[in-house]
Amino acid sequence: MRILTIAGCVLAAGSILFAAADEAALQGAMKEIGPVCSGLGKKIKAKDATASADARRLVASFSPVQKFFKSRKAEDGVTFSKTAAAEFKTIGKLTAQGKWDEADASFKKATATCGGCHKTHREKAADGSWKVK
Ligand code: HEC
Repeated sequence: MRILTIAGCVLAAGSILFAAADEAALQGAMKEIGPVCSGLGKKIKAKDATASADARRLVASFSPVQKFFKSRKAEDGVTFSKTAAAEFKTIGKLTAQGKWDEADASFKKATATCGGCHKTHREKAADGSWKVK
């Protein structure tokens, strides 16, 4: 019995550590997504061809985000992440073809996911930093 209890504790501690690592991956992704996304918005307005590379970077950044919400079994978070990745992928193609108006419309759809997910899954900690809800 004692052995089982110890094993249980080790498992529980392991999963807490695991959750913390996941959260760090999500936070790392968000800290990158923030500036790259606002830069992309400006580049689309300025018809700057380097926008395609930013859009591709954002697609990649949403991969750990999707994984995080999948591991938490939060379906809405998974859907927001998938939509964001799909729209950024489209934006990458459109900007490469010089279709700036369509890219701008897609950008609005992509950024609607930011607020959507933040409203349900993000909260401000006492020290002013962001954390997962
Ligand atoms: C599927 C959910 C989800 C989506 C979609 C999402 N975010 Fe987040 N975001 C979070 C969560 C949860 C946090 C709080 C944890 C954290 O700070 O990393 C966060 C935090 C942030 C932060 C603060 C990072 C920090 O800790 O300093 C920024 C900036 C940010 N998101 C930008 C964006 C932008 C821009 C988009 C849209 C292109 C976006 N996010 C889309 C879930 C999401």
